[in-house]
Amino acid sequence: MTDENRPSSYEPKNDFQIQVAQRVTRLPPYLFGRINKRIHQKRTAGDDVIELGMGNPTDPPEELVIEKLVEAARDPRNHRYSKSNGIGNLRKEVGAKYFKKYGVRLDTDEEVIVCLGSKEGFSHMCLAMMGPGDTAIVPAPYFPVHVYAIALASGNVIQLDVTDHDRFLKNIAYTCETLYPKPKLLCLCYPHNPSSVVVEQAFFDEVVKLAKKYGFMVISDFAYADVAFDGYKPPSFLASKGAIDVGVEFTTMSKGYNMAGWRVGFCCGNREMVSALATIKGYYDYGMFQAIQVAAIMALRHTDAAVEAQSVIYQSRRDALCDGLARLGWEDSRPKAGMFVWQPIPEPWRSRMSTMDFAMMLLEEGNVAVSPGSGFGPAGEGFLRMSLVENEERLRQAVRQIKACLKEAETRY
Ligand SMILES: Cc1ncc(COP(=O)(O)O)c(C=O)c1O
Repeated sequence: MTDENRPSSYEPKNDFQIQVAQRVTRLPPYLFGRINKRIHQKRTAGDDVIELGMGNPTDPPEELVIEKLVEAARDPRNHRYSKSNGIGNLRKEVGAKYFKKYGVRLDTDEEVIVCLGSKEGFSHMCLAMMGPGDTAIVPAPYFPVHVYAIALASGNVIQLDVTDHDRFLKNIAYTCETLYPKPKLLCLCYPHNPSSVVVEQAFFDEVVKLAKKYGFMVISDFAYADVAFDGYKPPSFLASKGAIDVGVEFTTMSKGYNMAGWRVGFCCGNREMVSALATIKGYYDYGMFQAIQVAAIMALRHTDAAVEAQSVIYQSRRDALCDGLARLGWEDSRPKAGMFVWQPIPEPWRSRMSTMDFAMMLLEEGNVAVSPGSGFGPAGEGFLRMSLVENEERLRQAVRQIKACLKEAETRY
């Protein structure tokens, strides 16, 4: 049909509006957008920004893992669609790691599923569990995905302060006693991002008791399982008696194995929850590129020593950064695990300006990018999250630049 004889009702309208779904428009604002845009602009202009923002590992995976990826990529059989829940041998390897590290026995056919990174798995698990009118409890300050995933699933979020274990448990119980309908889901994350709070197994034992008493499900985000310092061993939620009756745990190869871009994560635990996630994933994706899964098996089977060595590297970086900040008179906030220092902003800056303004000042005038705590919700106001992905020399340089930036800023007050 030519344009001349097209009926007038088909003519394009200038006032056409794209009507984005509420599940998108009701998402909270992404506060890191402003900082990320400025980092990009500064780098394009030639500035050497020291990046202590995102927890995006800069070290490479082990050579044998990369070699296996290349070899597997050359095998034509690995280029077809893979199994949506992950190949059996990868799931078995995950089960073997859980048994070796935590003494947890898993049925790797029914209680393990491979995800395209733990973030994808976490989000789709929320979609599988939550709906309109359902409420989830999330630790505050929050890792943004924990809130967004529940919002995307049309659920409501209650944020409870994660920094004091006893109070957190009491607040969970109080919320269950007083809220109607009761919370359906509890999200946990230890070692916690962003606050670096850690727990011992007894904490999870209490959580399981509460979950059974009040009938809520549990999702444990165990992204920092492999990154711990000074002999501390992060416990697995699934190692608590009865945990598998009430919940699941997500782990990832992004952090300890330096494979963030590969997008390899796992969900283990309660078989009904795993099955619900498998159903959702069956509709959304065709599984992970098989060559990646084959190489991930190699990493899980043969690189324990490298994973431990990586923690030692993060520990040295932690000390380089925290020693430097302590010399500036900042509070010592050395984490026991994870990839971040959760640093209270010292006075007088804390009273003088918002956390966002302080972070922007360090970026604009000091060329040091940090995450403002307010990006992790109101509970993060007054804090900075500083990641340990840069090497020790760069971290020491960052401290020198922060010192010079604040000295200069002081003259304006
Ligand atoms: C607490 C937490 N959970 C999940 C993720 C996402 O990990 P993945 O790369 O496996 O999606 C991160 C990454 O920063 C994280 O900090």
